Amino acid sequence: MTSKIIKANQNGKIFLDLVKPIFDSYFCSDYNLVDIGAGNGCCGLFWPNFVYFVDRRKPNTFDDILQVNPKTNFKYCETDFVDFDTRSVEGKTSFVGIHTCRNLADLIIDRAISERTPLAIIPCCHPSLNEYIHDDSVQNLFSGNCAVYIDRIRQKKLLENNFEVYYRIIESINPPKNRIIIGLPK
Ligand SMILES: C[S@@+](CC[C@H](N)C(=O)[O-])C[C@H]1O[C@@H](n2cnc3c(N)ncnc32)[C@H](O)[C@@H]1O
Repeated sequence: MTSKIIKANQNGKIFLDLVKPIFDSYFCSDYNLVDIGAGNGCCGLFWPNFVYFVDRRKPNTFDDILQVNPKTNFKYCETDFVDFDTRSVEGKTSFVGIHTCRNLADLIIDRAISERTPLAIIPCCHPSLNEYIHDDSVQNLFSGNCAVYIDRIRQKKLLENNFEVYYRIIESINPPKNRIIIGLPK
């Protein structure tokens, strides 16, 4: 395996170590993961229960990593998340995603709100701030990297929709790709 994949595997484990205790105390019984924007599976492959991997395209590296980290209780759904029907998921469900790029993070948040599903995501490749705020005077205040601000807007949306919100940072990953937004419906 390449060093890039080994690093991605490590990130998946660190992410789950931070998120699992929070989900465990929320669910109090078994639950599945839907790993969205799953790519090579470096998050869900380390989850003991059933995992639905969702990505527009399954990379070949998924099967390489699977050989090193064997797992049988999963389904890889090669589809856009907007077309993924959560009614096909059996049992209690949570949404996770490492490096959910651009608007995928917002799609996940919106679906979590409408379906009252817990989520834990690390957004990356943040869209432009003007997709969220249409006031020039505010936009001018954030001429540099707006990632933190956009993530605050995302957290606020969860709070306004009656979610409990947590924020965690993975120190070993460079910002802005290291911030976990966790939301639990009340
Ligand atoms: C930055 S990669 C992260 C992959 C993996 N989670 C990781 O950490 O290595 C983002 C992934 O999201 C997928 N993706 C982006 N938008 C998507 C959408 N709307 N539905 C499904 N997959 C999507 C891309 O195909 C890509 O594999």
